[in-house]
Amino acid sequence: MIEYLSLKRITAMHGDEINKAISDVVASGWYLNGSTVLCLEERYRTYIGTQHCVSCGNGLDALHLILRAYKELGQLHDGDEIIVPANTYIATILAITENNLTPVLVEPDITTLEIDDSRIEAALTSRTRAIMLVHLYGRCAYTERISNICKQHKIKLIEDNAQAHGCTYNGKLTGSLGDAAAHSFYPGKNLGALGDAGAVTTNDLELAETVRTLGNYGSSHKYVFDYQGKNSRMDEIQAAVLNVKLQYLDEENARRKEIAHYFEQHIKNNRISIPTVLNRDNVYHIFPILCAERDRLQDFLKENGVQTMIHYPIPPHKQKAYKEWNALSFPITEHIHREELSIPCNQTMSLSDAEQIVTLLNNFH
Ligand SMILES: Cc1ncc(COP(=O)(O)O)c(C=O)c1O
Repeated sequence: MIEYLSLKRITAMHGDEINKAISDVVASGWYLNGSTVLCLEERYRTYIGTQHCVSCGNGLDALHLILRAYKELGQLHDGDEIIVPANTYIATILAITENNLTPVLVEPDITTLEIDDSRIEAALTSRTRAIMLVHLYGRCAYTERISNICKQHKIKLIEDNAQAHGCTYNGKLTGSLGDAAAHSFYPGKNLGALGDAGAVTTNDLELAETVRTLGNYGSSHKYVFDYQGKNSRMDEIQAAVLNVKLQYLDEENARRKEIAHYFEQHIKNNRISIPTVLNRDNVYHIFPILCAERDRLQDFLKENGVQTMIHYPIPPHKQKAYKEWNALSFPITEHIHREELSIPCNQTMSLSDAEQIVTLLNNFH
């Protein structure tokens, strides 16, 4: 059986180091707001290439805190519009609506599965204040065109880098390409903790300080509250795990790339399409394929010992949570959600696993 993703095996790759790091924290008696979190923030900001990194509880909070901080700083206001890909994971959209901002959904490109930059200008209005760029599936969604639109219209570029740790564009890491970026360290991510954790990266000191204050009950000094904030912090144990795993991120992404490039070169079945290879720096958090007979293909792979997932079965605009959008039509997004199947692609796999998957895919009729 080729599992879709075995967190047990991923953790076991550095098990001794992780266990040691955790027991050091346990023995220290200091579990929150300590030196391990500060160390992770410093290492992660250096890795991403930004001046600041503020850790927080999870990726949704990271997105939420960026938008909330811009509001507190007077740079966003209730009802402002934020452009976002219609096929993103729902967290990106939740962060916008829970801040009383308005998501403007834009279709992805069917060949790249990332936001279609040729459709963004048509979605701009006098209320547009930001583009929330999602590097979906660990594929770089940044383009010069998007950057130019932001500069020309003086709107912010916020990256949702939850799925793309280590992904680069012209040598710069995603998470350092815009005004601010949100990162998730959910266990299944390329850089995953053993529980929830997240972070914000930015070069904007004022934004970083406001995010930190908002995530600390709104308090910048003990028992002094500047905002009605929330409690969103990374604990020392998660930071200790991430400090270990960050050292291996590039090496593990390289392994993912090897597996993914094998898929890109060898999947040859006209019933199955794979996304266009944008550049060689994608980190393949997910390897999506599209197939009109997706469910039959999923059953066929399962019967032959390959576990798969669907990212995602229902698009945000068709969810009950956003009833008001249910009648809207985003044909490309809906097509992707109907046909998408994620095949195993991670650092624990061997090339022979990849070969086995390719043989099955190429024999699917
Ligand atoms: C694109 C995207 N954004 C945001 C998030 C939210 O991250 P978290 O699960 O850490 O809240 C996720 C996580 O699954 C994600 O895939």
